[in-house]
Amino acid sequence: MGAELLQGIHVAPSILSADYARLGEQVREVTDAGARVIHVDVMDGHFVPPLTIGPPAVSALREQVSAVGGMLEVHLMVERPERHVADFARAGADLIIVHAEATPNVHYALHSVRESGAAAGLAICPATPVSAVSESVGDTALFLCMTVDPGWGGQPFIASSLDKIARLRDTIGAGPALEVDGGIETETAGPCAAAGATRFVAGSAIFAAPEPAEAYRAIVEAVGAA
Ligand code: DX5
Ligand code: ZN
Repeated sequence: MGAELLQGIHVAPSILSADYARLGEQVREVTDAGARVIHVDVMDGHFVPPLTIGPPAVSALREQVSAVGGMLEVHLMVERPERHVADFARAGADLIIVHAEATPNVHYALHSVRESGAAAGLAICPATPVSAVSESVGDTALFLCMTVDPGWGGQPFIASSLDKIARLRDTIGAGPALEVDGGIETETAGPCAAAGATRFVAGSAIFAAPEPAEAYRAIVEAVGAA
């Protein structure tokens, strides 16, 4: 993975809303349209109620995404994420995002991610204060602000997130990527960018659209990405 994929503005299609029966094809539609960050949502039925997918889905997409110079980011909505880091890194995750609420050992979890060779990201839920990330600034490549409650695609964007994004940006400084996830579409992406977000996860806005490539490009345009 090129380091530039952790910098700059990126729209990251989330495969949560893709058709899993033709996952490779759906990912190709968005990479052909220019997407280079593919977002993989992992849910364990404990941290969040639903169950989704595990390392085999990452392995299955690895080659296809690498071939276009892209990266796979894995959003772990699982309890004690540190227990799963090695498996996802082995499967080919380039960036692994853990939740601050999912372990008493956030520092250890982030350290484990870096030890695995992947870049480390730290996510917070809507009700978690910005201060939860303050001790992790410095060695964390990306911070993720959930703009809906984690667990389901297709929920409406939480409007108060805009103020939170701005406060998060103040806390983490200019260096790290600041990602938003949940309810991101053409209307909400622009205000998030104005508040300081640099990375925009979109699931249903892309894969529930009739033309995912077109929907991807519309969000790119809304945030002014290349
Ligand atoms: C939800 C996941 C998101 C999800 C977003 O818990 O973390 O990545 O795919 O879905 P939309 O874009 O439909 O809100
Ligand atoms: Zn996600």
